[in-house]
Amino acid sequence: MYKFFKEQLDSKIENHNLRTLREYCPLDAVRVKRDDKEYLMMASNNYLGLTFDTRVIEGALKGTQEYGTGSGGSRLVSGTFPLFTELENALAKFKNTEKALVFNTGYMANVGTISAIADKDTIIFSDALNHASIIDGCRLSRGTIKTYGHCDIDELKYLLKSVDRNTQKLIVTDGVFSMDGDIAPLDKLYELSREYNALLMVDDAHATGTIGNGHGTAAYFGLEKEVDIQLGTLSKSLGSVGGYVAANSTIIDYLVNTSRSFIFSTALSPADIGAALAALHVLESDISVLQRLHENVNYMADKLISMGINATNETPIFPILIGRNEDTLAVSEYLYESGIIGTAIRPPTVPIGESRIRLTVTAAHNKEQIDYVCQSLHNAMKQL
Ligand SMILES: Cc1ncc(COP(=O)(O)O)c(C=O)c1O
Repeated sequence: MYKFFKEQLDSKIENHNLRTLREYCPLDAVRVKRDDKEYLMMASNNYLGLTFDTRVIEGALKGTQEYGTGSGGSRLVSGTFPLFTELENALAKFKNTEKALVFNTGYMANVGTISAIADKDTIIFSDALNHASIIDGCRLSRGTIKTYGHCDIDELKYLLKSVDRNTQKLIVTDGVFSMDGDIAPLDKLYELSREYNALLMVDDAHATGTIGNGHGTAAYFGLEKEVDIQLGTLSKSLGSVGGYVAANSTIIDYLVNTSRSFIFSTALSPADIGAALAALHVLESDISVLQRLHENVNYMADKLISMGINATNETPIFPILIGRNEDTLAVSEYLYESGIIGTAIRPPTVPIGESRIRLTVTAAHNKEQIDYVCQSLHNAMKQL
């Protein structure tokens, strides 16, 4: 009965593609401990470093003290506490939309939104490097999926042209691409969406708290009122867990009534919501946090470039392209021995032959740490 699973695992070992869980004990937003040794975390999405911010911890504690440890039910049945309404109002204001709706994860927000918005008669145009949760949402919708080359506007236009104008259409893209850190050409996608009568949805999981003054991709392009659906997560820059969709009232009311991952799951805990709400307040009111992130991004990019390592993004994601799985694992292991967590990202997360170390910098790192990481990476690459 287990033969198939064992064979699959063996084949992953052979291809240097086996995943295993490693336990780390966080000491603060950027340092972790394992087997009595301290490591610098360069692989998290905690971009603003808010997971240990006293204001955010206070938000989580207050949520628990006021409303208990669990929500006890789905949002429509019994789980909508005042904190949810407060967070959704704050998110809608932050994203400059009429309404927002909180889901349990960003993954569930994508799966539940796309499968509700698109049906079997919808044609979905999806960037080739979109996140797995977008891909799964597209599959679940049973619509026709047309994948266009990464940020390839010409190919998208060609595909849109070939479809009847009256067919229901959705264009969906990551705002900041999770494994590459580049920014989608949302202005051009928007133009095409209006020209060809398509809905436009952007996933701001890595864009909220990082670009557009922290407000995300639509704000970066000045298109907050124009983009139909701005989706995001509470689990990265906002230091908590959860997902959300910000859009006009019609879309949000429709999702409340049709989105299965929203309807059929117990609501997040008050601690999660309290933390996210506090983090959003920090992002809006304390500009020093975002400033520190931007300073660190620029500092790290300059440093890597000075060492001959390609680093052209404006975002905290530094994809260090290596290629082969075994070489990528070797670099990751070298970093680990040097006290740095820089995870090897391999297929199917990235295309075959494009394995990489995905380094991320946060507002909570200091320059000395960044210097050390860049030098260690440089040394690791020389070993190949
Ligand atoms: C682009 C993108 N969308 C959605 C998600 C899912 O968000 P969450 O981790 O909150 O489920 C992620 C990352 O995990 C992501 O990178």
